[in-house]
Amino acid sequence: MKHSLSFLLLISLLFSACGAPPPATVIPTKLPVVATETSVPVMDTETSQSVEKQIEELLARMTLEEKIGQMTQVEKNSIKPGDITKYYIGSILSGGGGYPTAENTAQAWYAMVEGFQKEALATRLQIPILYGVDAVHGHGNLRNATIFPHNIGLGAANNPELVEKIGRATAEEMLATGIPWNFAPVVAVVQDVRWGRTYEGYGEETELVSSLGTAYLKGLQSLTAEDNPVPGQSIFVLGTPKHFIGDGATIWGSSRTENYQLDQGNMQVPEEFLRQILLPPYQSAVESGAMNIMASFSSWKGTKMHAQQYLLNEVLKDEFGFNGFIVSDWQAMDQIYPDDYYASIVTSVNAGVDMNMVPYDYVTFIETMKSAVNNGDIPESRVDEAVRRILRVKFALGLFERPMPDTKYQGTIRSREHLELARQAVRESLVLLKNENDALPLSKDMPVIFVAGVGAHEIGVQSGGWTLEWQGKVGNDNEGTTILSGIRSAAGSDTRVEYSREGDFSEFKDSTGNPLIADAGFVVIAEKPYAEGVGDQADLSLSQAETKLITAMREQSQTVIVILLSGRPRVITEQLPLAEAWVAAWLPGTEGAGIADVLFGDFPFTGKLSFSWPRSNEQLPINIYNASDKTGCEAPLFPFGYGLEYGHPSPEIEPC
Ligand code: GLC
Repeated sequence: MKHSLSFLLLISLLFSACGAPPPATVIPTKLPVVATETSVPVMDTETSQSVEKQIEELLARMTLEEKIGQMTQVEKNSIKPGDITKYYIGSILSGGGGYPTAENTAQAWYAMVEGFQKEALATRLQIPILYGVDAVHGHGNLRNATIFPHNIGLGAANNPELVEKIGRATAEEMLATGIPWNFAPVVAVVQDVRWGRTYEGYGEETELVSSLGTAYLKGLQSLTAEDNPVPGQSIFVLGTPKHFIGDGATIWGSSRTENYQLDQGNMQVPEEFLRQILLPPYQSAVESGAMNIMASFSSWKGTKMHAQQYLLNEVLKDEFGFNGFIVSDWQAMDQIYPDDYYASIVTSVNAGVDMNMVPYDYVTFIETMKSAVNNGDIPESRVDEAVRRILRVKFALGLFERPMPDTKYQGTIRSREHLELARQAVRESLVLLKNENDALPLSKDMPVIFVAGVGAHEIGVQSGGWTLEWQGKVGNDNEGTTILSGIRSAAGSDTRVEYSREGDFSEFKDSTGNPLIADAGFVVIAEKPYAEGVGDQADLSLSQAETKLITAMREQSQTVIVILLSGRPRVITEQLPLAEAWVAAWLPGTEGAGIADVLFGDFPFTGKLSFSWPRSNEQLPINIYNASDKTGCEAPLFPFGYGLEYGHPSPEIEPC
């Protein structure tokens, strides 16, 4: 860990003081330089000057309506036929679950996007649309896409090269559907694991988040010769570091959205903390070629991020030199003044948001913008700046030359290469929390194995949110392998593997007619899929039913191994003694068989926690910044960076 103890103590003091009015702090004029090993190839000067010249020439020809149209992003189910042309709409998106009505195949997606694109190219200036989607762990909306572990698992793997390849693979499967814009990665430095979006983050520590967010962005955006870039193209698929800024550092109970508690809430940290802990992943992303950033629903010191002129304009655009465009979150502008739409739009556009994810009532937005410019409340020069930034990105993607991608990428969907990559990611994401008496690895000629729990055989459960539907979808709609199928494939041919969702194996008898006792019993404990604030949860402890699954297996097996499928650490202190081994498997995606690869010792455990593991609900929020000086029962159950390996004894866990 590169943070000095004194710095961590300073931070923990700042953090603990964050409830109180922040002390007057000297703001560092120079941001900490975050080492960025990589950067996305940028255009050479001559090409860049040529593009800037083309942008200015195009801008000079645009009417106010055509400019405002470019600032308008509409959800694909809300755009009326012909309106892209009529209103010069610049962007369309699919929200979570926004697949084509016809059928959820790459070809149907491609045809849908192409249809919208044709409408855009029918406008006077033929400015192509930019279509965006949340492919946060693979192209989740697409049925039978390769679904990778959610970022919490990639944080445990902490392998930038692997994450870069995942970015590339995701980009290929997106282009297979005609989509060149991914609202990812989340680069929140998550401070409270009760947050429903914890799993979308890589971790709680700044440098890990910067490193992996930048690697993913490079994977998404970097071009290769095989991509046959058009002149002036510098980006393969556009990434979106999000949500700027402090989405994962809000205070419990501060959200004003529905019954959310943390998500979209208020962050009260001093600017010193914001700059030292939360900002570096964005600085690293901008230095690595980020050309789009999404503003956060959340607030800082009571002001919505979508109205934070200082952070959007002065820090991100001026101080960092960010020359792409800022997109709003879903209808987030409207939240600034809930009773005054006009004031919300004026405030947010003037604060620096360049494109509005409206996403429904685009006519009202367009009319409001026209009024605001005609009233002088939004200078037309501000509109020009926003459109300039949007056009810059469309040129960087080569959309004017090639509005729709080559269909050759359709062959990459669930390709052997992508599946092997996903399975590798699953293996490397696993964290071994406990392994008493070397319960793991299992031998492949073990006579009897029991497997219990709904999560053991449901690809939808192991994938989590943002998969097929916004909130995820239980069941097995997607192709892939489950934990159970992986165990069955890995075990020897003479091994008997029995499965019971409810954990009842009483029907199975041994040769003497007595109840069959397994040599090893796996209990898969799984969170039900969730997304965003729907997943905000104060109680992370295991339920009675989940505990019962473990105690029942205790009666039916010599050895008990618990596998946790979750979007965050759960409170397992009380149940820890009930099983010899515990594995954190997070949300592995479609290639669950990667888990068996490690359980049977074909591969080692290498994963390390990217989040502090709480001992109790009462400890929350607990993280490396506010717990660095905590010891004994005050400390997390397992610290950031913890993870056992085969051959190393399981440490004694002190009861508290
Ligand atoms: C959601 C999320 C954001 C996502 C957007 C589009 O509300 O906050 O992460 O990119 O809407 O689906």
